[in-house]
Amino acid sequence: MHKLKKKKIENLCIVQARMGSSRLPGKIIFKLDKKKTVIQFLIERLLKSKYINKVIVATTTNKEDKFLKKHLKRYKCEVFYGPAENVLKRYYLASQKYKAVNIIRITADCPFVDPSLIDKIIKFHNVQKSDYTSNTLQTTFPNGQDIEIFKFDILKDAYKNAKTSYEKEHVTPFIKNNNLILKKNFKSTINLSSFRMTLDYYDDFVVIKKLYDILKKRKFFYLKNIIQLMKQKKITFHFKNIIKSKKLKKPYGIKLWENAKKIIPGGNMLLSKRPEIFLPDRWPTYYKKAKGCQIWDISGRKFTDMSLMGVGTNILGYSNKRIDDAVVNSLRNGNLSSLNNYEEVKLSEILLKINPWADMVRLARTGGEANAISIRIARANSKNDKIAFCGYHGWHDWYLSANLNDKKNLDFHLLRDLPLKGIPKNLKNTIFPFMYNDIHGLEKIIKTQNIGIIKMEVQRDIEPRNNFLKKVRKLANKNKIILIFDECTSGFRQCFGGLHSFYGVNPDIATYGKALGNGYAITAIVGKKKIMNEAQNTFISSTFWTERIGPTAAIETLNIMKEIKSWDIITKKGKEIKRCWQEISDKYELNMKIFGLDSIAKFLFQGNKSQYYKTFVTQEFLKKKFLASNCIFLSTEHSDALIEKYIGEFDKIAEKIALIKYHKKDIKNFLDAKKAHETLKRLN
Ligand SMILES: Cc1ncc(COP(=O)(O)O)c(C=O)c1O
Repeated sequence: MHKLKKKKIENLCIVQARMGSSRLPGKIIFKLDKKKTVIQFLIERLLKSKYINKVIVATTTNKEDKFLKKHLKRYKCEVFYGPAENVLKRYYLASQKYKAVNIIRITADCPFVDPSLIDKIIKFHNVQKSDYTSNTLQTTFPNGQDIEIFKFDILKDAYKNAKTSYEKEHVTPFIKNNNLILKKNFKSTINLSSFRMTLDYYDDFVVIKKLYDILKKRKFFYLKNIIQLMKQKKITFHFKNIIKSKKLKKPYGIKLWENAKKIIPGGNMLLSKRPEIFLPDRWPTYYKKAKGCQIWDISGRKFTDMSLMGVGTNILGYSNKRIDDAVVNSLRNGNLSSLNNYEEVKLSEILLKINPWADMVRLARTGGEANAISIRIARANSKNDKIAFCGYHGWHDWYLSANLNDKKNLDFHLLRDLPLKGIPKNLKNTIFPFMYNDIHGLEKIIKTQNIGIIKMEVQRDIEPRNNFLKKVRKLANKNKIILIFDECTSGFRQCFGGLHSFYGVNPDIATYGKALGNGYAITAIVGKKKIMNEAQNTFISSTFWTERIGPTAAIETLNIMKEIKSWDIITKKGKEIKRCWQEISDKYELNMKIFGLDSIAKFLFQGNKSQYYKTFVTQEFLKKKFLASNCIFLSTEHSDALIEKYIGEFDKIAEKIALIKYHKKDIKNFLDAKKAHETLKRLN
């Protein structure tokens, strides 16, 4: 006897259901009346579809879901048990078992889904010969009428290729991102997206129950009947229980900060580490210990750093053992003496290997210093003081004097409204700003101001367009201008060395800082011999530039970076985070702007409340023990598991923001601290 081949099922409806909902556990068996639970009611409705050939419930193999088979016994509906977390696999295995041609995906939190709408979408899917059809690609239907249809082969492809847990948990993100397939959106003629009939929170259930009690008197009710009733009786969802705010306490760090401001002007030494920039009165502010990408604040609370990572210094994580060991070893032999440390020669040799266009190196200990040195050397060589600049280059007089001509000159290069006190007026007309990617602007300055030096960041937030960097190089050559690339932030993040080598454009001088010593103070000026030699003809010299920790740390940092290709690792991680942000932004229609180098990933909420939303994100993350704002400097220590956890939390915070927006509430009322200060503004 040969086996009978199982028949294919043209339209298989798979309802995704489980007891363990994180927001509202057990919601699928909440009782609508004495006889019916939410899931039973949903199955009854689905069985009314003309085109669905079979309905199955796909649940988990967890203990608490076992009862579902019995619970649905009286319906023409089978229960499939599959993996709890990998819902994509659950869908794939179920579809394979039932030999589905098309899969209709419904989630159990949509009990009011309209079977006649499902039929319309199935028909549309067939007529359009689409691979994936949904009414959720563009939201014009109520939240709670979510229907997706896709072909088995498309599901199989997603199952085989999806990588992230986000893609696996949410079933269709991989499909929705697949540009090789035909995807169609089914649109409502009237926009109904402001109606909510999904079951996520208890208040949703109150609405659903109210509607059900009235509508159950009908033999059957359609979406239009639900909407009519919602409008007529003004049955809407109450918001109050959703955004419960667990208040953050004022940490001890803030008390210390208040004292600090009395004895240290400005409170600390670096503007971008002031707590007001993150969460006024709540940010932990001081640390006791830092390791990997974890920080213990002064009170001993442990946080994961998804923010500045030392403002880009620690690509290899905090307190990297190999680097610390090398430093400790050097220290034991004396950090400083009457003679020079030989590590500075070794480091210079390594830097010249990384920058084959350069011949000589000077070392310093801060980025601002390195840039000031590069300017002094360049001015000495060109015998022309005038600088055209783009980007941020430190706190020194030569740079801040840009505001002498116009107090807004520096506004678009990082710091707004910088006061001019203390800057010699005589420096007026020595330095002129140009905007990134504006080659004509630069050309004009060169023509009108007799420029001797161009100083710029290779790239900050936006990529060079129309061969911008090459054109700058050409302009510099043509006009005999010294070109200096400031790689203090961009260096070692996208390739081994300066970002300029990634773009194939060499400067005459490059400055490195930040990541060079992985948190230890060391910066470098690397340049061509005939220019660098001018350091001899001017005076550049400092006692602590001869200490040993900096070069030791840099040598070991560069060794490790090269070994593990750290730039590849952090770029990949940043790309993934940006992709997930985009997905979440699309899912909740938040219209976030996502930008920056991949390894310095950034986002912005657009509109006039932008800064409030950013503050809200920080506030909510802090409750979950993440230090996070709207910019992440990635490190090799940000493990995939940590990033996943971060994205999971981001999703929940984004949903809260979406609900706040949806209910037209003012975000200000959801902040338990003042809005974060808006001091840093980078546009280049
Ligand atoms: C491009 C660039 N140059 C220079 C600096 C100044 O470096 P430092 O703060 O070490 O003086 C920075 C700091 O943010 C920077 O991003």
